[in-house]
Amino acid sequence: MSEQLEVKNLNIEHLSGVMELQNKIIANLQEDEKHFILKRSAAEFLKALDGENVYMLGIFDGDKLVAQSMFEFPENVGKRELAEFAPEIDCDDLVIYKATLVDPSYRGRGLMQELLRLREQKAKIEGKKTAISQIAIDNPASWINAIKSGMSIRKVDKDPFDGAKVLYMQKDFYKPLAISKTKNCFSMYIGKNIHKEIPALFNKMHYLAEAGYCGIEFVGKENKIVWAKPEELRIVTLQRQFAKMPNYFASGQGKTIHR
Ligand SMILES: CC(C)(COP(=O)(O)OP(=O)(O)OC[C@H]1O[C@@H](n2cnc3c(N)ncnc32)[C@H](O)[C@@H]1OP(=O)(O)O)[C@@H](O)C(=O)NCCC(=O)NCCS
Repeated sequence: MSEQLEVKNLNIEHLSGVMELQNKIIANLQEDEKHFILKRSAAEFLKALDGENVYMLGIFDGDKLVAQSMFEFPENVGKRELAEFAPEIDCDDLVIYKATLVDPSYRGRGLMQELLRLREQKAKIEGKKTAISQIAIDNPASWINAIKSGMSIRKVDKDPFDGAKVLYMQKDFYKPLAISKTKNCFSMYIGKNIHKEIPALFNKMHYLAEAGYCGIEFVGKENKIVWAKPEELRIVTLQRQFAKMPNYFASGQGKTIHR
């Protein structure tokens, strides 16, 4: 990140800059990209800027807000956001990463990476152990960045509210996935035009995630995602399949994934 840029915790004073940046970015998205971010009202931003458990970080170029990122430490009451994912994790241990927005003229300079790094730092200071987020599958700029910051794709599904095809990502700060790069590991080409490839890609990724594979790495030169099946998830998946299909092994219907 360039030296003239400065990171700050955002508060109520920054509301107009936050709204302006959001509106600019939404106006800049194509019609089929509008679902990349949830359009928030001033009231919602105020809650985050003044909130007890929602935080916002911003990057400034002088007085101008050029990037912003929101994250939440969910409270242990009622249903949390993204309740459909990782329900076994205690809210006290969790940080939920929300929207990160970078002004189009400041993109490709590592600002999102910097904000991801700082969110993790803050979460660890607050004693959190796991980060989760939900990202639209057709927003590779966002999920490639998440993978680069150590998150992995754990679940691929439709959002229960709006049906958008999404990736659920997770990073356990203190318990990296136990992965063997030689066993149960392969790379998957994602195609040159992600928008065109989405239906097929979604089906493939959904199948892999259901089978206990995690998307753990992006190989930019080859445009591939590396998928691996960590031992702990392999056991969980087998138990899940076994519970669903009592005759699974007896009927010989076991499926093999070919590399
Ligand atoms: C997604 C977004 C936040 C990325 O911000 P950024 O500051 O440009 O990201 P960075 O510079 O930190 O990106 C670094 C890496 O991201 C990946 N990346 C960034 N833009 C990409 C794109 N359009 N396609 C594929 N990968 C991309 C690259 O791997 C890049 O690394 P490289 O420069 O070594 O190739 C920005 O594009 C944005 O605001 N988009 C609109 C809003 C949005 O979709 N937000 C995310 C949903 S919450």
